[in-house]
Amino acid sequence: MTEFSKIESSYLSKDGCRLVWKGIDEDDQDVVILDKDEFDKLVEILSKDSTGKVELEDQFSNILINTDTTQFNLRDHKTLEAPTSVLRKNVLDFKKIPHEPKPIKIYPKEFFPSIQIEKEDHAERNKLLNSILSGKAKAIDVSDLFRVISTRRSTRNFDTSRMVEEWKVEKILAAADTAPSAGNFQGFEVFYVKNKELKKRLVEAANKQPYVNAPVVLVFCMDPARVKMKFPPEILAKFSLQDATLAAAYSQLAASALGLSSIWIGMIDEEEVRKIIGTDLKPSSILCIGYPDHKRPPKSRRKLKDLIHVLE
Ligand SMILES: Cc1cc2nc3c(=O)[nH]c(=O)nc-3n(C[C@H](O)[C@H](O)[C@H](O)COP(=O)(O)O)c2cc1C
Repeated sequence: MTEFSKIESSYLSKDGCRLVWKGIDEDDQDVVILDKDEFDKLVEILSKDSTGKVELEDQFSNILINTDTTQFNLRDHKTLEAPTSVLRKNVLDFKKIPHEPKPIKIYPKEFFPSIQIEKEDHAERNKLLNSILSGKAKAIDVSDLFRVISTRRSTRNFDTSRMVEEWKVEKILAAADTAPSAGNFQGFEVFYVKNKELKKRLVEAANKQPYVNAPVVLVFCMDPARVKMKFPPEILAKFSLQDATLAAAYSQLAASALGLSSIWIGMIDEEEVRKIIGTDLKPSSILCIGYPDHKRPPKSRRKLKDLIHVLE
């Protein structure tokens, strides 16, 4: 793991530059070389305090300048990151462009896709989840929350050679438990399917979607009997569906916060899934989780003004 260290003149191109990342070991370094055009584009975006994308000449690589982090997506799926504020300072100093550091504004729709790179420092990486789970919600840095929400991307291609650490699964399950629920009755149950044969059968019960056979498979079920409220059965059924759905959504976000990817499976034969996991409860969704075989930016959505109806 290397960290962005400095910018220096390029030996190859007079007006380009070399961006250098350094690891703990002196010899451990990554270098990105930009030619004049690429560097000019980067400088233009950074000097405007803007976000944007610079395509590199090799036609494979690009630089995504986000509000918080700038991501260098290079050939062979290698990704380097630098805090945008640090990169901006270095680049503008290098170009002798006067500048002042500005506070970061976080608006989710202004985020450019930004991907969390794994660090060995688990405590730091799980700051968000730890603060949720320890009840110290005030300690949450809001940018972390928006970062997780706005960078999540479903994956159907898992790196099956990589096991998901059990402590991560525990955190994902614990996050489900923190979800709001009708009357706080938690009208849902989660089935953590580890058994390989059962996973294969779940593929069949999910319209043969092969990625259901994922490193981690969680089946979320509704449990209306837990909802001890004096309402007609159809309301309790609705509440338990909403409870199970919210819990799965919390788990999905927790998975993203932990550097994992997931796919939500709603296309299931409920009767079959029920038989496979051995329950009378009605399944609502299956959440399949693992390390993505390669990280991708989030999908676009409609414009906020088309989504939100303001009634004054
Ligand atoms: C209720 C629901 C049902 C879904 N069912 C399936 C499914 O059966 N199979 C699948 O591959 N993806 C399924 N998805 C995943 C969506 O296709 C995916 O979330 C969507 O394309 C948006 O992509 P994103 O999650 O990367 O933003 C489902 C998602 C939801 C919320």
